[in-house]
Amino acid sequence: MTPLIDPFQRAINYLRVSVTDRCDFRCVYCMSENMTFLPKKELLTLEELDRMCSTFIRLGVEKLRITGGEPLVRRDIMTFFRAMTRHLDEGTLRELTLTTNGSQLERFAGDLYDAGVRRVNVSLDTLDEQKFADITRWGRLPQVLSGIDAAQKAGLRVKINAVALKGFNEDELFTMTEWCAARDMDLTFIEVMPMGDIGNEDRLGQYWKLSDLRDELSKEYTLTDLPERTGGPARYVRLEETGQKVGFITPLTHNFCESCNRVRLTCTGELFMCLGQEDNADLRSALRNHPKSDQPLEQAIRDAIALKPKGHDFDYSRQTVDGRVSRHMSHTGG
Ligand code: GTP
Ligand code: 5AD
Ligand code: SF4
Repeated sequence: MTPLIDPFQRAINYLRVSVTDRCDFRCVYCMSENMTFLPKKELLTLEELDRMCSTFIRLGVEKLRITGGEPLVRRDIMTFFRAMTRHLDEGTLRELTLTTNGSQLERFAGDLYDAGVRRVNVSLDTLDEQKFADITRWGRLPQVLSGIDAAQKAGLRVKINAVALKGFNEDELFTMTEWCAARDMDLTFIEVMPMGDIGNEDRLGQYWKLSDLRDELSKEYTLTDLPERTGGPARYVRLEETGQKVGFITPLTHNFCESCNRVRLTCTGELFMCLGQEDNADLRSALRNHPKSDQPLEQAIRDAIALKPKGHDFDYSRQTVDGRVSRHMSHTGG
């Protein structure tokens, strides 16, 4: 089978799948407080998600990341994870993983491990209970911390993802770094991207350049650039004093699109070829209109990959927010 290669000669081997647009939090930079969610009948069923993912895997996808909204709030989602285990067993899928807000990990960590998940990325921007409640609107920090404990106890490696926000978590750079070191967790910082109408938005005011964050970090630690890649956009350094890994996801200060290897499937079966662009392809009809053959779906996927854009156009460099996209992050799961 010919692998998926886009017009810029990038091999596509990483699929991110948003299994629900719903979430039990309302992070201020991600959602507005009153979100309208999709009616359930619009969603791909778990069987359809299986068929979609299995088709992508047949076409060369080796890494599957389940996202949302919050993926663990989708009912029966473990059935889907367990269904994907067969691809790990066959060796066609190298990694099955998820990005979660951690709220449901206490309940699901063991099941995730049993399904073959070995690593989870947990989004956590602050270790302060009040600030956590403020930024997530509906979240409670102790619940997430218990989720992280449960994940580690179950044998899952945890990476913390923190959106770097000026005036919000700048003062926690070292506390978060030390906390992760003490718990043997990697930590990745993300630059805030202009996605979705979130109400009172101040992306520019919130924007904390990771080049500045890195300079701050190097006041306390010796940073060594690491060549290793997880197949995601993060670039890592090792802090020599603690041995821990810290990652930087820098869509604004350093565009990493040239090495992009991923596409995103939403819970309704749209394929977004780039997080930062609006164009998408409808894979749901190719799937639903042809229940007996995956060939039309394969063709629809190939046609979509042939339209993958070069990269996003997010740009704050002119002191204005350029390249914004209208959909919320929870639509495509980051
Ligand atoms: P690892 O497997 O741990 O490397 O994960 P990853 O970095 O691929 O996935 P993760 O879910 O941890 O990604 C963290 C965040 O990085 C996402 O929520 C997005 O905000 C951002 N991100 C991931 N992929 C892209 C991308 O292709 N473009 C842009 N602009 N941002 C991305
Ligand atoms: N910019 C950057 N990261 C964001 N996330 C949500 N919205 C944004 C944004 N506008 C992050 C979440 C989570 C991941 C899924 O995406 O904090 O880590
Ligand atoms: Fe939910 Fe994640 Fe969005 Fe927060 S950032 S509202 S946890 S989807």
